[in-house]
Amino acid sequence: MITVTRIGKHLGAEISGVDLSKPLDNNTFTQIAKAFFDNEVVFLRNQKLTEAQHVAFSRRFGELEAHVRKESRKPGFPEILVVSNVLDEHDKPVGSQDAGRFWHSDLSYKKEPSLCSLLYAIEVPVKDGTALGDTQFASTTAAYEALPDEMKQRLRGMKNVHSYVYYRNKNRQAQKEAAARGGRVVTEYELSEEQLKSVPDVEVPVVRTHPVTGRKGLFVNEAHTSHVAGVSKEESDRLLAFLCRHIVQPEFIYRHTWRPGDLLMWDNCVVQHKATFDYDLPLRRLMYRTTVRGPAIA
Ligand code: SIN
Repeated sequence: MITVTRIGKHLGAEISGVDLSKPLDNNTFTQIAKAFFDNEVVFLRNQKLTEAQHVAFSRRFGELEAHVRKESRKPGFPEILVVSNVLDEHDKPVGSQDAGRFWHSDLSYKKEPSLCSLLYAIEVPVKDGTALGDTQFASTTAAYEALPDEMKQRLRGMKNVHSYVYYRNKNRQAQKEAAARGGRVVTEYELSEEQLKSVPDVEVPVVRTHPVTGRKGLFVNEAHTSHVAGVSKEESDRLLAFLCRHIVQPEFIYRHTWRPGDLLMWDNCVVQHKATFDYDLPLRRLMYRTTVRGPAIA
């Protein structure tokens, strides 16, 4: 019997009573899946998972994606994206050092964006007894529901363009600004022509209907949305600034403070997330992420 305890106002719940390293019967899995879709973000503490167990549990939700950034994949487990500030013995990053710098949902720039992601915490930075490197999650369904009716009307049928190239340029700019401030700069990986071709820009609705729950959420994010289609640049900039600010208001957010052994999953159809970079080496953060493919947006 699992227990589900709601934590955040609009999203976020803890599931207890499950050891994911043990075989999981269909009935328990169905309860976990229901809790997940009801709460948009769920987490289980104190898990001890091998990479294979993490992958196997993730696969129960659908086919897994291997990230376009090949160098950040876990050797032997291409479905696992390593998210970490750790360097190997040659001072090479063991994974993606900058995942989650901007508010985003995973793979929103793909024709078939991700349904959900599962992040497993292995090492969490701690300073003076306080865990650092929290992740914030924002509910885009709550944000959509809170919009005035006339804005909902205005957004109906509107499309926006999500672009990996836009994200890469934005990230580069942020790196330059960080370098100018003497702040943290991370190794940048160039994507090959072939990799870039695999992630062309996509045009998707501003208001997206969830493929499982049918709830409506805002599918616009600061990392990947380059512009709103079919309007002037000024109008697009104004609308994006408004929506991106609106979505991440404190009342729509659940903030997760990590502990080693946390397995947390979020719904990429209706949740955006952002990492907190308030730690640096020698404080280490090591997480493994799997990403479940979702359907093309209808
Ligand atoms: C991500 O954006 O997938 C990583 C989030 C995090 O590291 O907190």
